Amino acid sequence: MMAVESLPTSECGSDGRPDKRLIGRSFGAAAERYDGLAELQRRVGEKLLSRLAGMSLGPERIVDAGSGTGYLATRLIELYPKADLVALDIAEGMLRFAKSRYGESGAGRLVCGDAEAMPFRDRSIDLVFSNVAIQWCSGLDSVFREIGRVLRPGGIALFSTFGAETLKELRSAWASVDDYSHVNRFGDSAAVRSALREAGFQEIDVAAEVHRLEYGSVYDLMRELKGLGAHNVTLDRPRHLTGKGALRRMIAAYERQSGGSGLDATFEVVYGCARGPAKCR
Ligand SMILES: C[S@@+](CC[C@H](N)C(=O)[O-])C[C@H]1O[C@@H](n2cnc3c(N)ncnc32)[C@H](O)[C@@H]1O
Repeated sequence: MMAVESLPTSECGSDGRPDKRLIGRSFGAAAERYDGLAELQRRVGEKLLSRLAGMSLGPERIVDAGSGTGYLATRLIELYPKADLVALDIAEGMLRFAKSRYGESGAGRLVCGDAEAMPFRDRSIDLVFSNVAIQWCSGLDSVFREIGRVLRPGGIALFSTFGAETLKELRSAWASVDDYSHVNRFGDSAAVRSALREAGFQEIDVAAEVHRLEYGSVYDLMRELKGLGAHNVTLDRPRHLTGKGALRRMIAAYERQSGGSGLDATFEVVYGCARGPAKCR
């Protein structure tokens, strides 16, 4: 029976790592709007799928880690109709949405859980697919170690994640206002490569691509991020409501940086493909 199985999410650390309860709530609340706003995320996901289509794999067990609304999970099922697919997400709201949209089996077996502590046996999965989700994990090292644990030797990890340049304009505009962390931090492609190597992956292929998206205003950008559920989840985020004055100063700084009529925001996408470790670590 296809069911939304619920597992406890990890406790949040006290060291500036993402607050997972907040991540689950934010994405869950964004589920209804997400597909309508996620244009870049879709393009990146399509690129991952077309790469898979060219790989002639025959995976029996697949995990879509951070599956969101289930859109890409349904595409994976089209690609591999005989496979057992688990759509895993930390946000129950996303999984409920996937169930209501695609039915009991349409997006695979829906499991609520953490990509850094997956409820799967060692070496039991042939393909771990993940589109722009692992940047929400506590660390690249821990998520790749976990993916390496569940992958069969020689199994494939194919993923995309946001890189360090992502939202650099917003980060720098806030830095001119105060010392809080207002924007999530992401690792670069060198960090991704090194974490994969450290976790024992082989045939590692990592590449980055920069997208510059134009917005009418800083508010439009912030509205889109909020609509996607992409809240600031760092533990050193400001705990008080950001005052109107600080927001005005940040917007003025962003507009000064942009200099022209439109307003650019950078998104760096890091793509990765690697074979799972030959031995358990
Ligand atoms: C930007 S969305 C991407 C969703 C989907 N992969 C897509 O391309 O449309 C990121 C998803 O990752 C999930 N997520 C974040 N941290 C996670 C974690 N530690 N374990 C599992 N899922 C997580 C979020 O709840 C959200 O649904």
